[in-house]
Amino acid sequence: MPERGAWPLHPPAHTGPPDGWRRLGPGLYSLVRYGSWSGHDATIGEAALSTPATARAYGTEPARPVAARARGLTKAYGSGETTVLALDSVDVDIMRGAFTAVMGPSGSGKSTLMHCLAGLDTVSAGQVWLGDTEITGLRDRELTRLRRDRIGFMFQSFNLLPTLTAAENITLPMDIAGRTPDGAWVDRVIDTLGLRDRLGHRPAQLSGGQQQRVACARALASRPELIFTDEPTGNLDSRAGAEVLAFLREAVDSLEQTVVMVTHDPGAAGHADLVLFLGDGRIVDRMERPTAEAVLERMRLFSGARPSPGGAPDDVLRKS
Ligand SMILES: Nc1ncnc2c1ncn2[C@@H]1O[C@H](COP(=O)(O)OP(=O)(O)O)[C@@H](O)[C@H]1O
Ligand SMILES: [Mg+2]
Repeated sequence: MPERGAWPLHPPAHTGPPDGWRRLGPGLYSLVRYGSWSGHDATIGEAALSTPATARAYGTEPARPVAARARGLTKAYGSGETTVLALDSVDVDIMRGAFTAVMGPSGSGKSTLMHCLAGLDTVSAGQVWLGDTEITGLRDRELTRLRRDRIGFMFQSFNLLPTLTAAENITLPMDIAGRTPDGAWVDRVIDTLGLRDRLGHRPAQLSGGQQQRVACARALASRPELIFTDEPTGNLDSRAGAEVLAFLREAVDSLEQTVVMVTHDPGAAGHADLVLFLGDGRIVDRMERPTAEAVLERMRLFSGARPSPGGAPDDVLRKS
């Protein structure tokens, strides 16, 4: 397993080809998965055959690959006296191939941030990009297609269909979209999540942890650019919760996926590469290589250091 926690300062260690490269044969690699390299649109796809060294020589190596990005992201609910500013001019970069946790107390804007980054909700001001696509400029139909084709979701309530088997639930979104699943990829997901011997079971025949694993596999099955999950361990006992976090970790470490997880649980956030702390609709801090203890400590600092209900004391909380 690659060493964890060094991202985004250093990309994760690899035994195989670098991130985004698939080894086709000796010295032969195919550039896959990256829609965006170093800020310009590279629709190179499977067609480009090269070695990583060649890519480096031609400057196509990703310097700071960003899966999603927001600038000045503001979301207000209601109007007039009753306006709630859920997000207050948030700037954020979500790094590709990393496990990012969005942490903060209830009502701090975590879910709103996720919904705006995933194109599930409109913004009041600011811009959001998925790769190089500005989603704040898209019409409803384009947004629906983008969510379907490029984003994976894993919800707390699993949202599995009771009449379908685990296997059918996993490929359901693609079946609805009329897309042919990449069999080899889906097999890899199923084996990584340890679901091989559960494929014929219906949700009622599975434990909570197994159901969440199926939901995780479903989010991964279309090989999305970004996976969003809101409180994935919220409905699970601690053992099943720990399992799900381990699978999300696997999705990043072994399957090179990008995961953004909303949570209020320091234990869950401790599994991530990077924790973003939200307070009153603003990102008030960040922590690389978190541990549950360090996250908990930071949360204590926030609640203790807040002098007034007016907002977080930025000069105390912001480290840079
Ligand atoms: N649909 C909505 N209508 C009005 N207010 C909302 C709505 N959704 C969220 N809010 C408010 O926005 C703030 C942030 O909410 P939310 O993003 O759900 O926080 P979190 O996920 O961190 O608990 C809260 O004050 C919440 O009450
Ligand atoms: Mg929430």
